[in-house]
Amino acid sequence: MIQAARLPAGEIRRNGEVTLRVLSGIQPSGRLHIGNYFGMMRSMIGWQERSELFCFIVNLHALTSLTDGKILAANTLEAATDFLALGLDPDRARFWVQGDVPEHCELTWILHNHTSMGLLERSHSFKDKAARRETPHHGLFSYPVLMAADILLYQADLVPVGKDQKQHLEITRDIAGTFNHVYGPVFKLPDAAIDPDLATVPGIDGQKMSKSYNNAIDIFTDKPTLKKRVMAIKTDARAVEDVKDPDACNLFAIARLFLDAEAESELRARYLLPGLKYGEVKQELVETVWDYFAPYRDRREDLASRPGYVRDVLTEGARKAREVASVTMDVVREKTGLKYWPFRAPPPERHIEAVSMPRFRVRRKNLPQSLSSSGIGRAIRRFHATIIPLHIRSWGSAGRSVLRESDSSPGRVPSVGARPLREDSPPWGRCHSGKTVLLGARCHTGKSVLRGDAFPGRVSAGELL
Ligand code: ADP
Ligand code: TRP
Repeated sequence: MIQAARLPAGEIRRNGEVTLRVLSGIQPSGRLHIGNYFGMMRSMIGWQERSELFCFIVNLHALTSLTDGKILAANTLEAATDFLALGLDPDRARFWVQGDVPEHCELTWILHNHTSMGLLERSHSFKDKAARRETPHHGLFSYPVLMAADILLYQADLVPVGKDQKQHLEITRDIAGTFNHVYGPVFKLPDAAIDPDLATVPGIDGQKMSKSYNNAIDIFTDKPTLKKRVMAIKTDARAVEDVKDPDACNLFAIARLFLDAEAESELRARYLLPGLKYGEVKQELVETVWDYFAPYRDRREDLASRPGYVRDVLTEGARKAREVASVTMDVVREKTGLKYWPFRAPPPERHIEAVSMPRFRVRRKNLPQSLSSSGIGRAIRRFHATIIPLHIRSWGSAGRSVLRESDSSPGRVPSVGARPLREDSPPWGRCHSGKTVLLGARCHTGKSVLRGDAFPGRVSAGELL
């Protein structure tokens, strides 16, 4: 496992291109709390500046603990709204709800067949959850497999999570390794990014803060509730005149999350002198937390008044997530034999967009004038690519996907590497090595378009098969 902090910034962008794919999800099993924020959400939002970020609300996972449909639906929207309010930018990140992308479930089933029972039986989180229930159900047992599918579907490099998720990442790598051993290198093995300083945020009772332990301080709450929760933080029974131990104090562990280095050492110094009153520290903490989230609270109120906007963001996010997920699934289906028709035979309806389009050689004149002499034209000539005739409608329009639907067939363009255009980015995809690749291109054999490290959708060497 590597720590995010150890990644040199220079490795993240090469030739102006983002080369690191970061992914994580959060369960909408209750209101989000400061443990979620400091353990995962804040670092996720930070990653949008320096990675290709995938962020989603894992409502399928929440089914393992929530059986009230209305509550799950409400929590899902709330969690999405929270994330947006806290600064997640849907133009920079892919942001969606897990259940809106059916590939998560499809891949889960496939991965089940490469997951040993023993591996899942050793899962701490299964053992913990099973101990809390009379009869643990199969969803709890299979939880890490769905999580593995979440991650492997998008060929993630790095997964920022709290320490409690470390074993799930190990299980993911294990499953990916087994699958790759059987079928060849299909999945990238992800690393967990765990901030060592913020491994586990304690709850008001001193256990790990969790939505399910009724010990959380919510991020967005009203002030009287915040005050009640903070005042209920458990502290030891030392008298005012005693010296206190900040490192053994729950209150200190929570307070320091909101303090810069200087303020933290001031508070530490107060602990080490007689006279510190826990009640006073708690009063100060209420104000600190309230002020810390104030700008986000305003933004959240605005978002809550525009539910249509949040819905549109999630719909578009699911579409953008599927663009990537479907590339991986094409390869997985082919490798496993689920794709059973010969390439040139008429396919079942579902895959019509992938194989039924007539292929033709791209000639310069088929390209927009502005491109024929550019890198994309050279790439086509060099690789002799046969591509699906793509009618490029939104050429150059900022913020939209480069390639749109085909002229000749309805449906989605199989968009390896399709990226939203930004004002400053050239209107074609680039692979890691810096070579130009053609979005939506397909080769004669119908295999995946690009070869390199051979992770679908993650072009490394930029070579057409
Ligand atoms: P919860 O335990 O409240 O249900 P989740 O299991 O949904 O939280 O966790 C969502 C994310 O937040 C995960 O990455 C998890 O590691 C992180 N997280 C949750 N609680 C804490 C905590 N107390 N301290 C640090 N990170 C946490
Ligand atoms: N199991 C994670 C948690 O409880 C949530 C999760 C589901 C997740 N799928 C994921 C986290 C994929 C990271 C990547 O916190």
